Amino acid sequence: MKVVIPGGTGQLGTVLTHALTAEGHDVVVLARRPVRENEVRWDGETLGPWAELIDGSDMVINLAGRSVSCRYTPANLRAMMDSRVHSAKVVGEAIAAAARPPAVWLQMSTATVYSHRFDAPNDEASGVLGGAESGVPGYWAYSVEIAKAWERAQERAETPHTRKVAMRSAMVMSPDRGGVFDVLSKLARLGLGGPVAGGAQYVSWIHDRDFVRAVEYLAERDDLAGPFNLSAPHPLPQRTFMRALRAAWGAPVGLPATRWMTELGAFVLRSDTELLLKSRRVVPGRLLDAGFAFDHPRWPGAAEDLVRRTRGR
Ligand SMILES: NC(=O)c1ccc[n+]([C@@H]2O[C@H](COP(=O)([O-])OP(=O)(O)OC[C@H]3O[C@@H](n4cnc5c(N)ncnc54)[C@H](OP(=O)(O)O)[C@@H]3O)[C@@H](O)[C@H]2O)c1
Repeated sequence: MKVVIPGGTGQLGTVLTHALTAEGHDVVVLARRPVRENEVRWDGETLGPWAELIDGSDMVINLAGRSVSCRYTPANLRAMMDSRVHSAKVVGEAIAAAARPPAVWLQMSTATVYSHRFDAPNDEASGVLGGAESGVPGYWAYSVEIAKAWERAQERAETPHTRKVAMRSAMVMSPDRGGVFDVLSKLARLGLGGPVAGGAQYVSWIHDRDFVRAVEYLAERDDLAGPFNLSAPHPLPQRTFMRALRAAWGAPVGLPATRWMTELGAFVLRSDTELLLKSRRVVPGRLLDAGFAFDHPRWPGAAEDLVRRTRGR
């Protein structure tokens, strides 16, 4: 297959490019500052020569968006919104203008679209979209608005010959340096990976190999369209999640972090406390219904596999 990955220079793009290239697919990445041989310039906002690559391709996987691992200042929130909506819109325009449009457009979205809740898991059919929760910081609603606007940009694109899938992904756990698993592992190994603000908030996650397999599954199954949750079927409370991670590293002590320590820690890590405190309880209802089987459905086994691969990197 000829695959085009806008925004494919980051964590997930690297994971997907390796996997798809190893399977013999021809992968082109769209980047604002291309460096590698398979990277082509675009600006994420306007049509340009890059659009010719989409014409005649088999699949587009759009991952572009300003990193969410930052302080949620008004300027950063605006950039998070604009980079996602504008890039999805222009990818849609390129597909619409193509004489030979791709068969499928997999558009990144996020599990953050669902509400902050503890009582029941969110699947695609009965899940509650976020934005109206009480007792949480007002700006949390904006992250949900970003996710909704991101999906709307894909829905509104007039691409009748291209199947559209929105991937509501949970945190992808991979052994790469600087990824979320790496950061959480460092905390766990320093004895800092205890419960955050009580640790009852759910963590949704997906193992990187299952992420790749789910992407490939959605690409192949031409009867599937619309939003899909890409998350392991067993999300778990943060305190249990970190306990299993400490156990996988053989680091049994985890100091608890109160909410203010989380604020401080998030500042030091240059990310936002929403990433740690929001309860994301998301399950892959549609993938399971479609017959997808996870290789790593439960966190303790997934964490052991990731620790083994991290030690060997
Ligand atoms: N990693 C996860 O666990 C996870 C989970 C759920 C959803 N997601 C979403 O999936 C997408 C990919 O994730 P990732 O972890 O690979 O992110 P990443 O490492 O931050 O990479 C995102 C890519 O977006 C491009 N980009 C950044 N700002 C942009 C802008 N203003 N305009 C156009 N492109 C821009 C960058 O490419 P260049 O700088 O080369 O142009 C970068 O390669 C993101 O949108 C993320 O929010 C990720």
